[in-house]
Amino acid sequence: MQKTELRFLIIDDSEADRLLATRELKAEFPTARVQEIGEEAGLTEAFNASFDLLVTDYQLRWTTGLEVLRRAKQQFPEIPVIMFTASGDQEVAVEAMKAGASDYVVKSASNLQRLRYSARAALERVRHLRVLKETERLAVVGRLMATVAHEINNPLETLINVLYLIEQNPNRNDIRELAGTAREQLTRIEQITSRTLGFYRESERPVTLSVPSIIDDVLLLYESRLQVHGIKVHRQYTDGRILAFPGEMRQVFSNLISNAIHAMPRGGSLDIKVESKSDGRDHVCVYVCDEGYGIRPEHMSKVFEPFFTTKGEEGTGLGLWVTHGIIAKHGGTIKARGRNEKGLGACFEISLPRAAQKPMGVETANGEARQEEA
Ligand SMILES: Nc1ncnc2c1ncn2[C@@H]1O[C@H](COP(=O)(O)OP(=O)(O)O)[C@@H](O)[C@H]1O
Ligand SMILES: [Mg+2]
Repeated sequence: MQKTELRFLIIDDSEADRLLATRELKAEFPTARVQEIGEEAGLTEAFNASFDLLVTDYQLRWTTGLEVLRRAKQQFPEIPVIMFTASGDQEVAVEAMKAGASDYVVKSASNLQRLRYSARAALERVRHLRVLKETERLAVVGRLMATVAHEINNPLETLINVLYLIEQNPNRNDIRELAGTAREQLTRIEQITSRTLGFYRESERPVTLSVPSIIDDVLLLYESRLQVHGIKVHRQYTDGRILAFPGEMRQVFSNLISNAIHAMPRGGSLDIKVESKSDGRDHVCVYVCDEGYGIRPEHMSKVFEPFFTTKGEEGTGLGLWVTHGIIAKHGGTIKARGRNEKGLGACFEISLPRAAQKPMGVETANGEARQEEA
């Protein structure tokens, strides 16, 4: 059952091959909209709108299927691409799979049916991954709610005490001071709730935002957990503006920081560094380094895989996988390494493309745009 109409693109020089592929896909997905593309201009136009699946021939007059695949993966990293190859093109198939193709189907009359099964499997996989990501996002939000309730509790207690004092003696001479305290506490509650809302509401398109301010938002929410565990946070920020989805970026840093807290049950230091670099390309580097139990060398290659966790029932193993996906979606990279040569502590290094031009406004912590001060 599909909520919206599926849209497929078939790229092939040969009209006859396009027809064959369309017929196969229509047999499996009768209501899908299949768009056949025979030349470059058509492809460029088709890429202006979203679609659900792409089938591309390997040998094209104007380019190769591999190029189409790369272009598609760059613009639509999550959309499955199936490579349609002439028989005997084994190396091509291998290369296509390495470049992120979901599958390859050899074009031959006897094999053509595989196209529909391959398309079905690829779409199922996409749906599955989407559900998994949403589940993880909700889990992050859920964990955060507990933290938020905790954070709000302290200022609320103070407020209750202040009101009690005023109630007892409305003519106190320190009433102004008490009002000041009450206002401070209310401001803190307001900050916490507005930052929390940022986790729910995602903007529709990426906005220019400051990485340090996103990290500060997240740190504020973890403040008492950090305190309880005796974790000292050291921040070293130079300005770092990126074009990104703020809710997703909060999720990234929330995942990294909560992992770091978990790794340091007996305290330590959490060092967070943000710097803008221009070594060939303009990017923003973020380092999140802790002094916790560290990552064993044999686990290094696995931590970004879905469901890999060393926390037993307590972990889901989805945090870093989702984090990796979000960073990749934003055109960046993330690496894990040990903090020191003994492998103690962990360091996560993120690189994201820097926002191109100086923006008019910058998204603030609570999601409102403000003028950037010079
Ligand atoms: N800061 C860290 N220090 C040590 N190990 C870490 C750290 N962050 C992640 N890991 C390792 O990576 C695994 C996967 O992390 P993640 O995807 O967030 O899932 P989870 O936290 O649910 O286990 C963790 O179980 C842990 O083994
Ligand atoms: Mg985690």
